[in-house]
Amino acid sequence: MSETTPAPLPIWKKLWRSAVREPFSGDRRSRLRIVMNNLILHLHPSQVPVRTLRFTYSWGLGGLSALLVVLLAVTGAMLMFVYTPAPEKAYQSILALETLVWYGQLVRNLHHWAGNALVVVTALHLLRVFFTGAFREPRAFNWLVGVALLLLTVAANFTGYLLPWDQLAYWGITVGASIVTYVPLIGNTIAQVLLGGPEIGSATLLNFYALHLSVIPLAMLFLMSLHFWRVRKDGGLSLPRGIDEPPVTKDENVTTFSDLVRPEAVWATVTVTALVLWSMTVNAPLEPLANPDLSPNPAKAAWYFMGIQELLLHFHPLIGAIVIPGLALLGLAALPYLDSDMDSVGVYFRSRRGRWLAALSAAAGLVLTVGYVLLDEVALDLPALLPSLPTLVSNGIVPLAALLLGLFGYGALMRRLFRATRCEATLSLFILILTGFLILTLIGIFFRGPGMALMWPWDVAATVH
Ligand code: HEM
Repeated sequence: MSETTPAPLPIWKKLWRSAVREPFSGDRRSRLRIVMNNLILHLHPSQVPVRTLRFTYSWGLGGLSALLVVLLAVTGAMLMFVYTPAPEKAYQSILALETLVWYGQLVRNLHHWAGNALVVVTALHLLRVFFTGAFREPRAFNWLVGVALLLLTVAANFTGYLLPWDQLAYWGITVGASIVTYVPLIGNTIAQVLLGGPEIGSATLLNFYALHLSVIPLAMLFLMSLHFWRVRKDGGLSLPRGIDEPPVTKDENVTTFSDLVRPEAVWATVTVTALVLWSMTVNAPLEPLANPDLSPNPAKAAWYFMGIQELLLHFHPLIGAIVIPGLALLGLAALPYLDSDMDSVGVYFRSRRGRWLAALSAAAGLVLTVGYVLLDEVALDLPALLPSLPTLVSNGIVPLAALLLGLFGYGALMRRLFRATRCEATLSLFILILTGFLILTLIGIFFRGPGMALMWPWDVAATVH
């Protein structure tokens, strides 16, 4: 061989070069660094504006949602080795997992709590994006992708809820599926397709298993990739700024590795540690084997549907279960098109006035919701007051019209009395509705006992087993 011809590369180096087009000094550290660089630079740009690193702006909530999804995929894959999706075997396989499999209980707890945490963290991420006005152009499309991701997160939780096949699962899904039947004309058909028949049975379990393990995760994977890609294409994170600062369009850049990836790694370690410690202390619930003949009293939906179940107590089912949640969802998706004020992007709660209007609206939401629930419980009986009308009108369309008029009036009041701008009025209305929904959810979870009667949480705890 002549002196100028380079020595042939060993096959493993050829393989490396064909996969990763980066110089490689040969030591293990440099190989690790190159792999990490490639992975991270697919997710992040090499430099980011220094302002976007303010932890109290994004709270790392988007990244945390992604981390929880990964954790769910890993623990879910482990659970698949033990779980059997058939009614007579599902419950036994969960019992075996908890008692016979090494760390089986811990893996189940981690999966359960991470799933619940994902609903909360994704919702908080949505609120952060809304409160900072980061949903406006050019991020309007990504907001829509986010709304779809939130729906998929709830769907993933709902389908997983049935899998342990205990009383909680069976009756939670019974209540959840009954909500679907209120969709006009096609409600019963949708419920039958979802359940795989007229009632919950082995076909339902198989349907939910397939949705939970393949359809929903694949859809999430696709939408998450689209979401991350759009964050980069939309110019990275919106730029945060103080209440009196003028809008910023450009900022000093810093390198991703030292300034972004390091704090991300710390935040990820802290949250995973907290989740592991929590899962070591608190077990995921498991009630006795599902019994279709023994309905618990009260039969409650999963906690994230309790707001809707509470609405059903106050409105005709079509209005409470379908029209109101449907309108709320439409409003959420349409937000970027209703409020496109570019001047307040990056400012928490829009402005100084926006901040105290937000506090006022949260207080108003609390008082009005609690007031309405108590009034409806003790005094208001619309079907008795309007006996000549069908209940869809007396207990549905009439209170819905009053609700919509009230919301419209509230928005007009904000503008007239407090000289709120259009975007401050939208913020006030959003917070009023959000607080109302949260209060309904809390009432449903903690203040409803047997027969869904209102009672104090300690009385609920004493009567419901
Ligand atoms: C599984 C669910 C989700 C994941 C994994 C996720 C992930 C992320 C990540 C990593 C970011 C960048 C960092 C950050 O803002 O924290 C981001 C930004 C963003 N997300 Fe999400 N997200 C999810 C759900 C949502 C939802 C429910 C919405 C709203 C409906 C949403 C809307 C947005 C928007 C508009 C941005 C850009 C924000 C800005 O520029 O300030 N995402 N998301």
